[in-house]
Amino acid sequence: MIPISKPTITNKEIKSLVDVCKSGLLVQGAKVEEFENAVAKLCGVKYAIALSNGTAALHTALYAAGIGHGDEIITTPFTFVATANAILMQGAIPVFVDIAPETYNMDPSKIEEKITKKTKAILPVDLYGQIYDVEALQKIANTHKLKIIEDACQSINASYKKQMAGSCGDAGCFSFYATKNMMTGEGGMIVTNDKKLTTIAKQFRSHGQPEHIRYEYFHLGYNYRMMDLVAAIGLVQLDRLETFTKNRIKNAALLTKGLADIPGIIVPTVMKEHRHVFHQYTIRVTNPFPLDRDQVAQYLNKRGIGTGIYYPKPLHLYSHLAKYLFKRDVFPISEQFSHQVLSLPVHPLVSRKDIHHIIKTIRNIYEKN
Ligand SMILES: Cc1ncc(COP(=O)(O)O)c(C=O)c1O
Repeated sequence: MIPISKPTITNKEIKSLVDVCKSGLLVQGAKVEEFENAVAKLCGVKYAIALSNGTAALHTALYAAGIGHGDEIITTPFTFVATANAILMQGAIPVFVDIAPETYNMDPSKIEEKITKKTKAILPVDLYGQIYDVEALQKIANTHKLKIIEDACQSINASYKKQMAGSCGDAGCFSFYATKNMMTGEGGMIVTNDKKLTTIAKQFRSHGQPEHIRYEYFHLGYNYRMMDLVAAIGLVQLDRLETFTKNRIKNAALLTKGLADIPGIIVPTVMKEHRHVFHQYTIRVTNPFPLDRDQVAQYLNKRGIGTGIYYPKPLHLYSHLAKYLFKRDVFPISEQFSHQVLSLPVHPLVSRKDIHHIIKTIRNIYEKN
């Protein structure tokens, strides 16, 4: 089976982990700080705050940016549920706008009609590994004095012009979940140039305690800390990230070369001046392709090719989020695409031979039907 994702762990990660185990210093400490500094450097920002996972990073970033009860946050319905749940965790209201068909990211032309007096921030997602429309959103945010909190959970090492993923708004949030482009099992990080946001975020991740002062609580907080054990893996993965990224981009280019001319198969679009890091390589299965998306997935799975559906249902169709919709809200592109998207294996362990097998199998469906 060619799996849809697989973490790559070498002796380097294992040694780094064992070293921390032997040191006896397991929880948040020097390794976490080293990891934070290294991620900040990669992103070209002043500060990084390590957290227990990407959801905690989003929640913490919203809290530290001053988002609270009743504030409206504009976001996309075509994402993982954590994006919107983090907004709800702050008592704020997710206000959805539909996606642009070429990028799967929020459509900037649909944002301004959703801005009200209660709107405080935009929360774009860099879906599948391509950064949102930075210039358009920055313009809207500047005009309406809104913050941008970037959900960069899928896009570490992506860039737009010279800006790195995570650094394109007031704060950016990464996930290091096991399937991500670099991983620590579970893990997350905020990156930002905002000192005040950094101070509050560091307190929030540790019960509201200021750094280095125990049992003093400045405000509400959680236990969202990262362990040194986790950071030890992260540091090694970060060293390998550029190689991982290049392999993903190479695999994506081969897939596109082999699939782009098949009628009904829509391959991903890499926007001008973007570096898409292909967390997912997602095609759409549309008319006139002879099988529908679910039939293609089944066909591939039977022939040893793992697939993923990201995402089978846009968020506004889940009951805990549907109640926040404005009356006439519709998201036709997200709804249509949720029936068409199919992600194919693109991770660094996918070989050239695997890619040829995937292309040949999909071409066979078209040629035999
Ligand atoms: C777009 C997006 N947002 C948020 C998250 C949440 O990250 P985590 O699973 O590390 O909490 C993920 C990853 O799963 C994601 O893909």
